[in-house]
Amino acid sequence: MSLTTFRSSAPERAAGDPEDLKVAPKVTVPSLLDKKLSRQPITVLTAYDYASARLVDEAGLDVILVGDSLAMVMQGHENTLAITMDEMLLYTRGVRRAVRRALLVSDMPFGSYHVDDREGVANALRFVKEAGAEAVKVEGGRERTALVRRIVDAQVPVMGHLGLTPQSVHRMGGYKVQGKTLAAIEDLRADALALEDAGCFAIVLEGVPRELAKVVTEELRVPTIGIGAGPDCDGQVLVLHDMMTMTFSPPAKFVRRYADVSGLMREALGNYKRDVETRHFPSDGESYHLSQETRDRIASLAGKAG
Ligand code: KIV
Repeated sequence: MSLTTFRSSAPERAAGDPEDLKVAPKVTVPSLLDKKLSRQPITVLTAYDYASARLVDEAGLDVILVGDSLAMVMQGHENTLAITMDEMLLYTRGVRRAVRRALLVSDMPFGSYHVDDREGVANALRFVKEAGAEAVKVEGGRERTALVRRIVDAQVPVMGHLGLTPQSVHRMGGYKVQGKTLAAIEDLRADALALEDAGCFAIVLEGVPRELAKVVTEELRVPTIGIGAGPDCDGQVLVLHDMMTMTFSPPAKFVRRYADVSGLMREALGNYKRDVETRHFPSDGESYHLSQETRDRIASLAGKAG
C-alpha cells in the first residue's frame, strides 16, 4: 500500500506548490505557440510513471513527453527500437493519471507508423482514446509529411523530431551529431519547413550543431524544442533519468546533471540494509500495538497455560 493518489479531500496536493497549480492555466498547443511569439522558453521533460510525472507536473513544466527513451532508461534496452504500442500505452496511462497542467505528448514507437499511414493514424488515435495523450511525436522529415497531415486531420496534434532521430540508429551507424555538412544542413531545413507546413505544432531538434538549430528556429513559426541543439531553440527537453543521474553510463555532452538521485538511493538502500541486519528497523515506534486490555488478557492466558 502507498498513499499517492489525488483523492484525499484536503489539503490538495501535499508536495509541490499547490497555489501555483491553482492559478497556472493548462498548457495547450496554442499556448505553446504563444510562448514562441512572446519569446518565453518552453520547458519539456520526459516522464514515464505516475510518481515522477506528478513531480514534473507540480514543478510547472510545460510539456511532459512519454518518450520511447523509456525503452532504454526504464526497461534497460540498448536502443529505443523494441518498445511496443501496448507498452507505450501502458506507461502513458500512468502518466495521464498524474498530469493536470502540462501538455501530455506520447512518442509513437518504432514500427507503429512505418508500415503505412492508415496504421499510423490508427495508432495515434489509440494514444488519445486509450491513454489520454494530448499529442503524439513522430521521427522523420519530408518522408513523414503525408502521415503528419492525416494525423492532424484526425484532430491529433503532432510534434516532429529531426536531427539525431534515435529510431534511425542503424541507418545513422550510431548516435551521432547530425546536420554537419552543407547538404545535411539544407536537408534538415527543408525537413523542418515541410513538417511545419504539414501541421506539426512543434519540432524537436536533437543532436545538431547550435548554429543550425538557431537558423531553423528563426525560420519556423512553430517552436523548436532542443536536446543537444544549443540554447537558441524555443524550448529545451531532457530525459528525466539523465538529468537526475539515474543512468549507468557517462552522460552525453548536452546533459546537465541537476541531482544525483542514484547517489541518494544507493545511500538510502545501504542504510536500510544495515538497519534491518542490525535490528534497528523497525523500531517500537514504527510498530502497531494491542490495547493494554488485550495485552493483559493475553498475559493472563499465557499464565494459565503455564
Ligand atoms: O524518447 C525521448 O525521450 C525523446 C526525447 C529525447 C526528445 O524523443
